[in-house]
Order: sequence, then C-alpha cells, then structure tokens
Amino acid sequence: MKPDPVYKTEFGALFCADSLEFMRHLPPDSVDLVVTSPPYALHFKKEYGNANQQDYVAWLVPFAAEIKRIIRPSGSFVLNLGGAWQPGSPVRSLYHYRTLLALVDQVGFNLAQEFFWFNPAKMPAPAEWVNVRRIRVKDSVEYIFWLVKDPMANADNRNVLQPYSQDMKRLIKRGVKETVRPSGHVINGSFASDKGGSIPSNLIQCGNNESNSSYIRHSKELGSKVHPARFPAEIPRFFIEFLTKPGDSVLDPFAGSNTTGFVAERLKRKWTGIEIRNDYASESKLRFESAAEFASAARGQLLLPLDTIGE
Ligand SMILES: C[S@@+](CC[C@H](N)C(=O)[O-])C[C@H]1O[C@@H](n2cnc3c(N)ncnc32)[C@H](O)[C@@H]1O
Repeated sequence: MKPDPVYKTEFGALFCADSLEFMRHLPPDSVDLVVTSPPYALHFKKEYGNANQQDYVAWLVPFAAEIKRIIRPSGSFVLNLGGAWQPGSPVRSLYHYRTLLALVDQVGFNLAQEFFWFNPAKMPAPAEWVNVRRIRVKDSVEYIFWLVKDPMANADNRNVLQPYSQDMKRLIKRGVKETVRPSGHVINGSFASDKGGSIPSNLIQCGNNESNSSYIRHSKELGSKVHPARFPAEIPRFFIEFLTKPGDSVLDPFAGSNTTGFVAERLKRKWTGIEIRNDYASESKLRFESAAEFASAARGQLLLPLDTIGE
C-alpha cells in the first residue's frame, strides 16, 4: 500500500518510504522523467548508508529496473553518480562504469548521452593523495548518465539555450564569410544567425556551496541538520527543462532534501519525491516555507544560476 505523503504542494508530494517498494505500486509508463542522485558507493559509510563498491551494482539494478518500468517510452532516467577511490590506494574505483554497463546490458536502457558536472568548489580528496603526498589532483567532476528506453525520447535543447558569448554576438552582428575549417567543417552565413542562444555542452558547471540558500538558513534557524549530500538545483533544472514540458511528471526516488521536487514545483511539473529517512523527508519541507522564494516560484520563470539564489 502507498503511504500517505509527508507533505503535499500544488504540484507534488513527498513520501517517506523505501523507493524500491514504493515504485512497485506505480503503474507502468506513467512518469516522464526520473532525475536522481542515489547514495554513492563510497568506501566510507555516509550517515544515510550506502552499498560498498562491490555490492553497488547489485543494489542499484532493481531500482533501475523499476524506473525503466514506470517511465514512459518517451521518458528519461537521469542518474548522477560521483566517482570514488579504492580504499587506501591512489587508484580509482570503476563502480560508476560497471553501473552504467549494467544499466544498459542488464536493465535494457540506452545511453542517450553522458554529462559531466564540474564543481569547481569541490574539496580536494582524498587528502592523503592530493594534499599530503601531492600525487593526484582534485577530482572535480561527477558523472551524469542520461538513459532512455527509446533513442528518440523527448528532448529539446532549445529549452536550455545559454546566452551567446561576446564573440558570437559580434559575429551575429557582422555576419561571416563562407570558410572551410581545417577540420573540414563548412562555416557559412547560417552559422552566425541569431537562434536565441548557444546550444549547451554536456559539461554542467555549478558549485554546491549554497551557504545562503533559504533551505540551509531555515534548517540552521530551526536547529535541524542540513542534508549532507544535496545536489545543486541547477542539475534538476537543466534536465527538467531539457527533457519535459510543464505539466509532465518528474520523480526522484532518492529525494534527500528534495531539491528535485522544489525545482519541479517552480517549473510547474508534477513531482513525486521518495526519501527513506523520516528526518530528511520531513525537514525537506523547509524548502517550501520561504514566502519570498515561493513568491518568485509562483511568478514562474527561474533566474539562473539557481544555486546562487538558493534552492
Ligand atoms: C545523495 S542523497 C540525495 C540528495 C538529493 N539529491 C538532494 O539534493 O537533497 C541520497 C538519499 O537517498 C536516500 N535513500 C537511500 N536509500 C533509499 C531508498 N531505498 N529509498 C528512498 N530513499 C533512499 C538517502 O537517505 C539519501 O537521503
């Protein structure tokens, strides 16, 4: 039986449950986008627990199989995973690659595209290899795998265009003469026509140091603990706008502090969040309790970058 929600908003609801069990109650082909960041396979235990590197794939595959069942053929599954090191050795774990291979080979997803989240504010770690012995550099990139059932799943990069660079603005004004690049690419007049913005790349740059966000402020005011592993609002914002339309449904089965639900609400997508821990589930409600931020959410459009104005 589906539990009662911990709280509801105009567009969504947050449930406290084991998402594997919860998703089994959802009908097939009913969700447009799953965007999530599960616990990573770190070699140390985070407070909310995580499968170790060897067991990680076996742990995640049943969740992914349910996700594949519940998303529509036009839908997407966006999975954020951080990299990891082998315990006690300056050697990388391959768990994220093994996970990706299993999601394609065992579960049957297609890899639509891999993205990389560049977080310039990430702390140098492990300190032993990076700061003390200086034999590795900062690991500042996390992986985001965009998986689909159908290779022609819904997506429209015109919804996530970025402002043109100054150089490109000059070219649009001046126009270009037809030239052939050394690579063989032909540059002609249409290259410099104004198409509303530049097409983003698969590198998403944003920090995760949202010390001023209202969620953190409220948590501190109330003496609640801030969730230790939030992703920045820019991650769900980018994929929700890229892969869905207003009114579509978004689900995060590892909701944590419910960044995904909060962004989905602002973008007028129906959302469902599932978080196994009672404290995280109920404290995530704080995100929705800032009048000022909610007024701007109600006005509809997001100001970018989201993580600089608070989640
Ligand atoms: C990396 S955090 C997600 C953080 C989230 N993206 C945010 O921005 O706050 C992973 C979350 O998954 C939760 N979790 C772990 N196993 C779960 C399960 N079986 N069902 C639901 N939630 C689970 C953990 O308690 C943790 O809060």
